[in-house]
Amino acid sequence: MSALVSSWGFRGTIVAKENPTELVEILVDVLEDRLRKRLFQMESKPLGLATGRTMQPIYTSLVSRLKDWPKPKMDSLLEGWCSFNLDEYVGLSNESTDSFAAFMAQFLGTPLSLTPDKLRLPDGCAKDPQKEALLYAEQLKTLGGVGIQLLGLGVNGHVGFNEPPCGSDSSCRVVSLSAETRKQNAFAFRGDPHLVPRNAITLGMQEILDAEEIHLVVTGATKANTLYSLLNEPMSECLPASWIKQHNNICLWCDYSSLTKVVQQFSPLCL
Ligand code: GLP
Repeated sequence: MSALVSSWGFRGTIVAKENPTELVEILVDVLEDRLRKRLFQMESKPLGLATGRTMQPIYTSLVSRLKDWPKPKMDSLLEGWCSFNLDEYVGLSNESTDSFAAFMAQFLGTPLSLTPDKLRLPDGCAKDPQKEALLYAEQLKTLGGVGIQLLGLGVNGHVGFNEPPCGSDSSCRVVSLSAETRKQNAFAFRGDPHLVPRNAITLGMQEILDAEEIHLVVTGATKANTLYSLLNEPMSECLPASWIKQHNNICLWCDYSSLTKVVQQFSPLCL
């Protein structure tokens, strides 16, 4: 595996498992370990969290693990909890069931009894979304930037809502969502892409690349072409996720379905 990794210009670790559930469990082992360590660090940086179907089983498993922690440890973890989500739709308040704020409340906030001030997202209903983006970035910067960043992958290669084309120096801002992304996310809007908001506030590549460590999680055959391009093509604006290949502390977590095209192409080298 290491020979392939260097030939792709990817500096990180790749963890691949056939079964997505097994993949989630070993990723959650790592997250749990990091959260345990946070208890002993006075100045832990905020966690960077993501939304999407890939993240659901991760949060469900994490919640069930944390519920097994001894109460004093759990209480002190929750007391010091500080996370910043990547993005939010413009025009959706945290009361809208379609918002990312509602997603986070459902899968993490409510089960862990985290208050909204600990589980932060951009305010999709801010009067001036661009100002809100600047404020959100400023708040994150004041707290030292992201420690551990969880990322999912868009079918068009976006991370957060950094839609192509997107440079590595983009910062937190308001973006227009592509037709492809609105289609990908329609599942949360009764299957209708037209109901998916046209704009969003997203952390930029800059804030993502400033994270201490990045965990990119990719599952399912629908991501196979994108993952192949990510690993096999040079970094470029056309594939925003590719910028993370330059990060020096990155782990890619993928199931076999998402690796189908990579394996087809490289199987002679793997032997
Ligand atoms: C949304 C989020 C991204 C996420 C992507 C993947 O577009 N803004 O941060 O990576 O969904 O979604 P899924 O996991 O549902 O495939």
